[in-house]
Amino acid sequence: MKKVKIGIIGIGNMGSSHCNTIINNQVPDMELAAVADVKEAKRNWAKENLPESVAVFEDGDALIEDSLCDAVIVATPHYEHPRLVIKALEHGLHALSEKPAGVYTKQVREMNEAAAKSNLVFAMMFNQRTNHVYRKMHELVHSKTLGAIKRVNWIITDWYRTQAYYNSGEWRATWEGEGGGVLLNQCPHNLDLLQWICGMPSSVQAFCHNGKWHDIEVEDDVTAYLEYPSGATGVFVTTTGDAPGTNRFEITLEKGKLVCESDKLTLYQLDVSEREYCFTATEGFKAPEGQYVTLETDGKNPQHSGVLNAFAGKILYGTPLVAEGAEGINGLTLSNAMHLSSWLGKPVKLPFDEDLFLTELNKRRATSKLKKNVKEVTFDTGSTYGSQVKL
Ligand SMILES: NC(=O)c1ccc[n+]([C@@H]2O[C@H](COP(=O)([O-])OP(=O)(O)OC[C@H]3O[C@@H](n4cnc5c(N)ncnc54)[C@H](O)[C@@H]3O)[C@@H](O)[C@H]2O)c1
Repeated sequence: MKKVKIGIIGIGNMGSSHCNTIINNQVPDMELAAVADVKEAKRNWAKENLPESVAVFEDGDALIEDSLCDAVIVATPHYEHPRLVIKALEHGLHALSEKPAGVYTKQVREMNEAAAKSNLVFAMMFNQRTNHVYRKMHELVHSKTLGAIKRVNWIITDWYRTQAYYNSGEWRATWEGEGGGVLLNQCPHNLDLLQWICGMPSSVQAFCHNGKWHDIEVEDDVTAYLEYPSGATGVFVTTTGDAPGTNRFEITLEKGKLVCESDKLTLYQLDVSEREYCFTATEGFKAPEGQYVTLETDGKNPQHSGVLNAFAGKILYGTPLVAEGAEGINGLTLSNAMHLSSWLGKPVKLPFDEDLFLTELNKRRATSKLKKNVKEVTFDTGSTYGSQVKL
């Protein structure tokens, strides 16, 4: 059976981890054919650590222009994701973009249009969608057995990062190099899951604090209030400065409450709908009765290799992706709306003015300073998802 010849563009933390996943045979339908990196040190790493058969290019453009690969994974800093995905599609290559889909929705919309015009596979690396607990939440909410959502709270402060992390690349945590902070680097996973499970809000108000806990110019502490078209409300809280952090995703529905805390999912199911009970009960203080329900999941959580196997499967056999590429714009819409709301100091209705967002972002880019005194390190990305401390 033919394997998908894959090229990886950007072999820093994440790209090098994808290389190892593939050469260690965790994606049987994929063969690592090429890698590209603009940095010589990364190319030297590739020559020393990857099989000799893997071609090494000096940048993503050169890899795409060569006819060696069937598909690419774009694992560069975020601003480059849409440009390289569009270029890959134009050269007839299937494309998988790392998260986030890009930095601003206007740019990502162009990428989605290019993908829609092609007959190629376009996917997003939303590896946390492979986690059985989030898949279960998605299934339960979408089945409507628990009724409509009333309230969503996600406190995700479990993304601890040190100053050494921020100093490890000149692009990191700068408006010019990255386009944002915790919302754009760590939270794309959570914002994607939030929209995948609960749908999109109609209004967002956020308070973003720049460089509150680190010496950086972008946000590292955010509290956002969300309003949904159904009348449900939500709160999303995140930071890279709390230790130990919290990861508690709580959805209150008409007939029960789902709580996912530190990767453990519980459901308290009511005997009747609270909405019905509220107006029929004769008692004043007594809440409707219910019980904890044992939830069965398949227990699987393959993360990155799950996304890569599904990508190869879609190319070779037409089987479903973990996340369609076109869906990447949704989580980015949430983070752009949070930034815009904080910059303007008022709530932002969705869809927001994408040109205004870009004007505001560009104001910040104009005075942005790429990092000096950078100490390049390739970190182990193994603990970048899931709780590090169970409390
Ligand atoms: N899915 C996940 O769990 C996960 C985890 C970490 C990072 N990421 C994402 O992966 C991307 C990269 O993050 P990272 O931490 O690996 O960054 P990094 O700085 O360690 O690596 C990025 C690499 O891309 C290279 N590069 C830049 N432009 C290039 C180009 N045009 N052609 C070829 N190479 C180019 C850089 O030289 C660098 O080596 C980010 O978008 C990040 O959000 C995803």
